[in-house]
Amino acid sequence: MKTKIAIIGLGRLGLQIARLLKSKYELYPTRKNKNTIKKLKKEFPNISNDNIAAIKKSDIILLMVPPKKVNLVLKEIKPYIDKKLVLNFTLKKFNLNSQLINIASSIVINNKIKICLYKPNKMVTKNNEELFIKIFKSISANFSKCNDPVKEMTYFARVFSHILAYYSFLLKEKKEAKILKLCFELGVESLIYSKSINNVIKKGKTKGGITEELFKLYSQEPYFKDLISSESNIINKKIKEINKS
Ligand SMILES: NC(=O)c1ccc[n+]([C@@H]2O[C@H](COP(=O)([O-])OP(=O)(O)OC[C@H]3O[C@@H](n4cnc5c(N)ncnc54)[C@H](OP(=O)(O)O)[C@@H]3O)[C@@H](O)[C@H]2O)c1
Repeated sequence: MKTKIAIIGLGRLGLQIARLLKSKYELYPTRKNKNTIKKLKKEFPNISNDNIAAIKKSDIILLMVPPKKVNLVLKEIKPYIDKKLVLNFTLKKFNLNSQLINIASSIVINNKIKICLYKPNKMVTKNNEELFIKIFKSISANFSKCNDPVKEMTYFARVFSHILAYYSFLLKEKKEAKILKLCFELGVESLIYSKSINNVIKKGKTKGGITEELFKLYSQEPYFKDLISSESNIINKKIKEINKS
């Protein structure tokens, strides 16, 4: 028998994930806008605007509403959660007196969630954690348990946006895209093999070369320290705001 999954809030992220799940699982998505529900009916025959009915029919509940709607939706659905597993994909952190896995996920690229980070609460049974892993590991390119998924993902998101912004800035400056791609790839590759980072740094400091000057500059500049502390401040402030909403 197919596992039944409620998707509360079939928006941008929900749709991407639902499309990866729909061939293997029985989906019960919801959203509020009646016109959009009509449009999505062909692709998702069980879609409705009834969160409670969707939950009653399902074994697992994916919560994907905007952070500001989380409290409202939780109030509505709590009495019906019972022993079902809730997967919180929203950026708002909360706990339940029942089985809950807090998740931070990136967007879907090439038919896989690029990064999926998760943390189960103490109520989650071994069977349900295994079921969650079975469903989501196979549709994720990178899948990992971690202590604070939202915080880790927020750091990733900011680094990612800096790289994209910098990359497109350089493209506008008419730098060659192919060469830029090579430079970025070399940087990322060095990070992936982080054990060899010291080695890369040592080798990178060619005597009298440009890189020696650059390494000297960055090791003396308070730039990175300042950047990281300002990033932490922004991220902590944003997470606090989301959790307050
Ligand atoms: N997009 C991302 O890349 C991403 C990544 C990680 C995490 N997230 C988190 O995932 C959640 C969804 O993000 P999103 O980008 O998919 O947002 P979104 O496009 O706004 O989707 C949220 C959906 O929830 C529906 N909704 C609102 N109130 C509802 C209610 N009471 N009952 C049922 N459905 C309701 C809305 O549909 P109607 O207007 O029809 O009601 C909307 O389509 C957010 O909490 C976000 O922080 C998003």
